[in-house]
Amino acid sequence: MDRMKARTMTDTGQRIGLRCLAAVLSSAALAAAACLAALPSSPARKAPAGGADARARALVRRMTLAEKIAELHGIRDATHYRYVPPIPRLGIPALRTTNGPAGVGPGGAGRQAPATALPAPIALASTWDVRAAREYGRIEGAEARDLGNGLFEAPDINIARVPQNGRTFEAYGEDPYLVGQIAVANIEGIQSQREIANVKHFVANNQETNRFDINEIIGARALREIYLPAFEAAVRQGHVASVMCAYNKVNGYFNCENRPLLHGILQKEWGFRGFVISDWGATHSTVDSPLAGLDLEMPTGIYFGDALQQAVAAGRVPVSVIDEMLARRFRTMIRFGLFDRPPKRRPIPAKPDGLLARSLAEEGMVLLKNNPGALPLDAARLKSLAVIGPYAARAITGGGGSSHVVPLYTVDPVPGIEARAGARVHVAFSDGSDPAQAAALAKSADAAIVMVGQMNREGRDHPLDLGDGQDALVRAVAAANPRTIVVVKSGSAVLMPWAHRVAAILEAWYPGEEDGNAVAAILFGDANPSGKLPLTFPQSVSETFAANPAEYPGVAKVARYSEGVFVGYRYYDSKGLVPLFPFGYGLSYTTFAYKGLRISPTRLSRGEAPRLKVQVECAVRNTGRRAGAEIAQLYVGMPSSTAVPEPPEQLKAFARVMLRPGQTTPIRFLLDARSFSYWDTTGNRWAIRPGEYRILVGSSSRDIRLRGTVRVAR
Ligand code: BGC
Repeated sequence: MDRMKARTMTDTGQRIGLRCLAAVLSSAALAAAACLAALPSSPARKAPAGGADARARALVRRMTLAEKIAELHGIRDATHYRYVPPIPRLGIPALRTTNGPAGVGPGGAGRQAPATALPAPIALASTWDVRAAREYGRIEGAEARDLGNGLFEAPDINIARVPQNGRTFEAYGEDPYLVGQIAVANIEGIQSQREIANVKHFVANNQETNRFDINEIIGARALREIYLPAFEAAVRQGHVASVMCAYNKVNGYFNCENRPLLHGILQKEWGFRGFVISDWGATHSTVDSPLAGLDLEMPTGIYFGDALQQAVAAGRVPVSVIDEMLARRFRTMIRFGLFDRPPKRRPIPAKPDGLLARSLAEEGMVLLKNNPGALPLDAARLKSLAVIGPYAARAITGGGGSSHVVPLYTVDPVPGIEARAGARVHVAFSDGSDPAQAAALAKSADAAIVMVGQMNREGRDHPLDLGDGQDALVRAVAAANPRTIVVVKSGSAVLMPWAHRVAAILEAWYPGEEDGNAVAAILFGDANPSGKLPLTFPQSVSETFAANPAEYPGVAKVARYSEGVFVGYRYYDSKGLVPLFPFGYGLSYTTFAYKGLRISPTRLSRGEAPRLKVQVECAVRNTGRRAGAEIAQLYVGMPSSTAVPEPPEQLKAFARVMLRPGQTTPIRFLLDARSFSYWDTTGNRWAIRPGEYRILVGSSSRDIRLRGTVRVAR
């Protein structure tokens, strides 16, 4: 506590205060909300554009062509990495960037100090809690700055089109609305610390197989309704200050030289005033890329170095374009204070940030199954516990690749469980490499906790089964002890052919450095699980559309998105498939009842449709005996036609409410025109059809409790 105090006392006011910390830790949603609302808002939102822009342009006027070129790409040598050099003569500071999105990554082996390993972003999405996402971003932004960086390469908001994608764990799941809202809050948190957020990867970087040159053929409707909306929210609602263009091609063009996407949609249509950087090695041209809207080549100047200088000299790239690229980056950096108050290195407050990482991990876990009496564990009634499995040996701090964080410390599973269970409970451990021995251990214990999982990583897609004999291990343990509780640590959906044989299943994702404490808190009921799945868990691979290689992973480096908008639950619902666990699903140690749906108005004329605001209200009651949080979800079922087929339901709003036993709370959702719109490919615009719209409110996409309608007249 003392160190925590020290951290907050020496703060400049940008860190969360002790009171807020307590509120967040106790999940007292309202108190935490009040605290978090007091965070400084993003410089991108606040500062008047004029001053920074004028100052940036005045600077650019004083630069020689060689200086300009030097500022259009990063450099990489023995001492520099993720680094755009300074120009001291003009007072231009260096720009240091670092990874994201699961905490502050090391930026290359051994190149940066350790930081707080937060739970994986997919766990953050499972909270469906925008306050948690803001808090997560605040920690990221503060620590990135503590380590001297001005730009943080996060969030990753690519849609989980296929669960096999190796980077699913880095992002927020399969629904564009949920992804967008978590992203906006995460960006606000990062940028509240005067750290430039960098939303990535624009756009549709949805697989790692052939990621550098896969050509994705995506229809306009799927692009607009599934793959672009979260980026649009990040820009329009979250005021993100920078964007990273992706490796892949969309409809034949590399993203970093795709003028319709970068200049057309991002800049002109959405009014993006920040700057665009390339993913590492995603630039492919010297002339097309600057003209398309790419502002900075990373990590080095293969195309934006000498080659660009020659192209400018030859008149193939106008100097005015170069000046604009620089002005966009400089004015953003000026607004974030990087020119006047560059980030200074200072120690990361490991303990308080670790406590927040723990509470975020707890909030993101999803209880998938719980037979009566299985969970929570009661230490007073237990004599022995068997903790088994390869994922019980060490804390699972994150997935692999550029998002990897070197943690400041870790809490391993067994010490976490031992600390919570107390000295009276005997905790025995087996890594599960010998299933017969593990089963014998399980048989001798009051309950068996099996920790299995899958390590996913950037650069490689993965199968959906756990592999390494883990399914057989779970079966062997379950056969030996009826109270077998499976804790899954995966980065995406996995297959669970043993689900019907075990007493309880907890999806813990990659819990981060506080793994041992966070999992124990859920198992023993100190924290009541409230996470809900941000992506569908299928029963088998054959029921996913990815079973068709032309769609995924593609044939001859072409992936056809012929499923259109039918991605994730939109696909399963439209085909009438029953997944293992549906989108939006998750159990609690308490229960909730819904009632009193009120919709206003329920009828709209077509003329008022573009400006429509529909209010949907209901009440949720905690009908059990424990305090807990429920995530109420609102889906809209749009009128469908052969010409424009619609999925049965689409998420358009959600609310997380914390309730004491017996407590009832009113919930109000607000829907706007976009909630009722589809992308009209003929008119190239959002449009609202006349007809009946079903309003569905419930506890998951497959557990709708209240139904109503809104009619849009012809
Ligand atoms: C980016 C990643 C990217 C990677 C390549 C990073 O710096 O932030 O998202 O794909 O470089 O490993």
